[in-house]
Order: sequence, then C-alpha cells, then structure tokens
Amino acid sequence: MNHCLVSEQNRTSGTLALSVFTAVLGSLQFGYNIGVINAPQKIIEADYNATWVHRYGEPISSRTLTTLWSLSVAIFSVGGMMSSFTVGVVSEWLGRRKAMLINNMFAFIGGGLMGMAKLCRSFEMMILGRFVIGAYCGLASGLVPMYVGEIAPTSLRGALGTLHQLAIVTGILIAQILGLESLLGSEDLWPVLVGVTVLPTVLQMGLLPFCPESPRFLYIIRCQEHHAKSGLRRLTGRQEVGDMLAEMKEEKRRMDMERKVSIPELFRSTMYRQPIAIAILLQLSQQLSGINAIFYYSTSIFQKAGVQSPVYATIGAGVVNCAFTVVSLFLVERMGRRTLHMLGLSGMCGCAVVMTVALSLLDSVPWMSYISMLAIFGFVAFFEVGPGPIPWFFVAELFSQGPRPAAMAVAGFANWTANFIIGFGFQYVAELCGPYVFLIFAALLLFFLVFTFFRVPETRGKTFDQISSGFGHASPDIMDMELDKPSTELDYLGAEGSLN
Ligand code: GLC
Repeated sequence: MNHCLVSEQNRTSGTLALSVFTAVLGSLQFGYNIGVINAPQKIIEADYNATWVHRYGEPISSRTLTTLWSLSVAIFSVGGMMSSFTVGVVSEWLGRRKAMLINNMFAFIGGGLMGMAKLCRSFEMMILGRFVIGAYCGLASGLVPMYVGEIAPTSLRGALGTLHQLAIVTGILIAQILGLESLLGSEDLWPVLVGVTVLPTVLQMGLLPFCPESPRFLYIIRCQEHHAKSGLRRLTGRQEVGDMLAEMKEEKRRMDMERKVSIPELFRSTMYRQPIAIAILLQLSQQLSGINAIFYYSTSIFQKAGVQSPVYATIGAGVVNCAFTVVSLFLVERMGRRTLHMLGLSGMCGCAVVMTVALSLLDSVPWMSYISMLAIFGFVAFFEVGPGPIPWFFVAELFSQGPRPAAMAVAGFANWTANFIIGFGFQYVAELCGPYVFLIFAALLLFFLVFTFFRVPETRGKTFDQISSGFGHASPDIMDMELDKPSTELDYLGAEGSLN
C-alpha cells in the first residue's frame, strides 16, 4: 500500500515537465549572461575606443578603458544584488508565475540596450544593459528555485532543483561557444551575441500561461484551496491529491500560528537563526569557492598556466561543468545533499592545492601546464557535484512557506554580493599573490567543509514541514544533536519516497 503511494508520488506529468522547463529558461539566461562577456572582451573594448575617438577625437586611455570594462562586467552583479533582495516581496505580491512573467520585461530592456549599444555608439547603453540584465538574473535566481521547489514532488525535489543549475551551466557553455570569433564573437556580430538573450525570454513568455501557479503558494498564502487542488491535479496527473493537500494543510496550520516573517525577523527569531545562517554560509561556500575566478577569467588563467589555445580550454571547462552537473542530477536523490556538498568541497580544495603546486613549478617543469589544466577541470567538476547546484535549491528546502521568500532574498543577496566581490577583486588579489592565489580558496573551502560537516542537515526525501520542524520545534539541544547526526538517521518516513 505504502509502495503504491510512493510510486504514485514519483510519477511525473507532462505539465510538471513543461513547468520546470519553462521556469529554467530563466536560469539559462542567467548562465548565458555570466559567460557571454568573457570571450569578446577585446572586440567590445575596441568598439568602446572607436566611440571615444568619435566623440572626443582621441583614443581612450588604457585606464579609462579598464574602468569601463570592469564596470561592464561587474555591474551585472550589482543589478543581481539589488533585485535578488526584492525576491521575497515580489514573489508574494505577484505570485511565483506572474513574477517570472513580468521579470521578462527586464530581459527585453537589458537585451535591447546591449544589442543596440554599438549602433548607437554608446558604451553607456552597454553598461546600463548589463545592469538591467543583472537585475533580471537576480530575480530569476530566486524565483526559479522557489517555483521549482514548490511544484516538485518531495522525492524529486533535489533532482528537479538541480535543473536550475544545469540550465545555468548550459547557458554558460552556449555563450562560450557562440562567443568564438568565428561565430558571433566578431566585430560586426557581437551585438547579436549579447542581444540574443531575448530569445529564451520570448519562449518563456509563450509557455508560462500554460504552467500552473505553485499550488503551495495558492493554498498556504492565498487560501485558494480550489485552485491549488486543480494545480496539483495537473502537476501530478492524478485526480486524488488529498495526501498532498493534507501535508500543505499541516504546514499552513503551523504557519498560521506564526507571525508573518520579515527579513529582520529571520535573524531575530531563534527558530530561524540557525537555518538562515546555514543558508547564507552555503551561498558563500558556492561563491567563495572561487568558481567565478575560473568562469570570469579562465582564458587569462589558462594563458598564464602556459596552456596552448586557452579559448578552447575555457570551452573544455564549460563542457566539464555541464557533464558533472548531470552527474549531480542523478546522485542528489541517492547520496543526499550533505554528502555531495562535502564531496564537492573537499575535491575542490584538493584541486586548488594541486593547481598552486603546478603553477609554482611551471617555470622549472614545463609539463606542469597540463597538470594545472587538469586541476582546473577537476575543480570545476567537483564544484558541480555539490557546491554548484545544491545551495540554490537547499534554501527553498530549509524553510517553510512563511519564511521562504524572505530567506530566498537574503540568501540571493549573499550569493550576489560574494559574486561581485570575486568578480571585482580576484584580479587584484591574483596580482598580489601570484601562483598562490588559489591557496586562499583552499583555506576557505576547508572552512566550509568543516561547517557543512557540523552544521548542515540532510533534507533528502523530507517534506518542507518535516525539515522546518527539525529546526523549530525541538529544544536547542535536541536540534543541535539532530543536525549533527548523519543524514540517514534523519531520513524520516519521507526517505521511502526517494529514488533509492
Ligand atoms: C552557479 C553560480 C554561478 C556560477 C555557476 C558556474 O550557478 O551561482 O555564479 O557562475 O554556478 O557553473
């Protein structure tokens, strides 16, 4: 009987597949805009110079050019930082689906500004466009995992959550390939390269009306039982959804007893302090691992490491990135989040040390360039096993419906801020530390590994209610004990619903 229920719950419907696919089109754009700026740097800089000459009759100074370029790269994260902070308010006000729909406006404006910048001879338009598209990505980075986490059946929440990251890495890879000079990364075609980001937007806008709003949002927040039920029926493909509704009812009952959770309250209340600290540290473990030092500056890192054809090595890193996200997709419901995250962090730490040794021996041992390339590939591969995909959906898992939007906003803000710090600061620190720069990341990775071991609980196979009650309804001592236990002991009845 129990098994029948489990296999029923594991059934996915066409509507669920369509809804997840549609949502992650937003993640695809997020990835695309991370990757797009890397390869055509020199060509776009040449256009900035041409504009300068046209306006002022003299070539741009190299300092001004560097400033304009750094601004074009980093303002993306500033847009992301600002908008990710509004994820909570926007998703409660408009609902998850409508918020994604309206967010597309930013993609149109951002893509349009960047695509027209060359024609209008305006680097200001390019910079503003990067800011606006960053704002789009900041909202998408919160809305997509929230929506997917809420519509996914418990047993597939991790696997479907990983699709957000899979779409991001696919976007990065597409951008790296299209950015080749022989494709769109040329003097004439770069406006198409940066403007093409509006295509997934159009597709998403066409498909979103066919996707149901999150039933958890409709029922728990909006009290629309009837609509929630029909959404659940569409998403599960079955008529009888009483068991799922009962689980939401329990979550709602608990939520009704609490006050509305604002961002300051997340930090004040003893009930949320621990999960919000975990959420923030997981986001920091993703960004301060140093991954974007690779994705923003890989070409120059490969160059310094003596690798021939660094552009192709960058694409190689993109391929490894995608392949290992797929590996994680299959492992996350079997091995659990905690184990994979720790595996990823320790592997990255090891690779960072190997990279440092290889870089420091490069002058005396020429074949070290291959070792450093392999170490970079390993670094990326381990990232995607855990630290890449897991933090994104883990936050949505740690919190119940009430505090979730505020928590997603705080976590998103932490992620984007750290992203900005690495994007902006890496080159300066790398200049200072030379081949030893990755030792800083190794030390940080070690810290996050220890933190995960002692503080991060396993959430695989548990309902949202079970996870949050693991934090909120036990005495602090019991809670600490539970969080420190190996995952299997925490796999309540829900574990039966996992893919094991
Ligand atoms: C994650 C990070 C993003 C990074 C990407 C690399 O999505 O949030 O910053 O560029 O992984 O795959």
